Amino acid sequence: MLFEKKVAIVTGAAQGIGKAIAMSLTDQGADMVVADLNIEKARRVAEQIAKEMGRRALAIKTDVADKQSVQAMVDRTTKEFGRIDILVNNAGIIRRGSLETMTDQDWHDVIGTNLTGVYYCCRAVVPIMKVQGSGKIVNISSVASKTGDITSSPGYAPSKAGIDCLTKSLARELAPYGINVNGVAPHAIETEMSAEWPEEKRKKVVSAIPLGRMGKPEEVAEVVAFLASEKASFITGEIIDVNGGFLMD
Ligand SMILES: NC(=O)c1ccc[n+]([C@@H]2O[C@H](COP(=O)([O-])OP(=O)(O)OC[C@H]3O[C@@H](n4cnc5c(N)ncnc54)[C@H](O)[C@@H]3O)[C@@H](O)[C@H]2O)c1
Repeated sequence: MLFEKKVAIVTGAAQGIGKAIAMSLTDQGADMVVADLNIEKARRVAEQIAKEMGRRALAIKTDVADKQSVQAMVDRTTKEFGRIDILVNNAGIIRRGSLETMTDQDWHDVIGTNLTGVYYCCRAVVPIMKVQGSGKIVNISSVASKTGDITSSPGYAPSKAGIDCLTKSLARELAPYGINVNGVAPHAIETEMSAEWPEEKRKKVVSAIPLGRMGKPEEVAEVVAFLASEKASFITGEIIDVNGGFLMD
């Protein structure tokens, strides 16, 4: 078991990629905090983990864009579990539009959740990891961080590029404390987020992927689990593409 006696927080774990990550880490022995805005769905995931994986799992209603909400979630995690070994910053949103049709609020919502949310969660968890002398942080980026907008959401790609840069900056800052900070950049994964895509867009997206299909949430989760484990002990500041060959750089 890769994560025996480890405690993990996964944000946005009520569905999609986050849920697959939570299932993968608990399958390998972790106890889990399912931190999500959608508490009903988060509770269902926590119940599924307890039932199927036999691990301790706690659903905590969390808005990663709200500093107080994040701090309350981290305080409750330490109170219930006593430590935090793994933080996966997965919560993310898209607001569709063009530069001229999107509102300022759309911009602030996307940057607030996708980028500031990662900062708030790291800020709250890192002091605990420093005392422990170890920790693994994995941030979920996107291929859009390198290509620019491919989702009709002008704030999205900059938010993900910010995540890549924050990942590298924190990797340098936290390395002396035994904390690894890495990222995973998926593309075209079958989730509720991508289910919104019109059929025409889906066909276009798939035709540009050498492996010829969309990815599965579990295929992202496997890479996250690797980065969160001791198998990746000499990797930090790295962002691994999971994109079916769409972008080879
Ligand atoms: N699906 C893809 O093709 C794809 C591609 C590249 C990157 N990603 C990234 O992967 C991550 C997960 O994507 P997904 O497709 O599973 O998305 P999703 O929309 O299916 O799930 C996102 C989850 O995050 C939660 N969430 C949203 N805002 C939140 C907030 N402020 N605080 C806490 N939780 C919040 C939602 O309730 C939901 O449970 C996101 O960061 C996304 O940008 C997805």
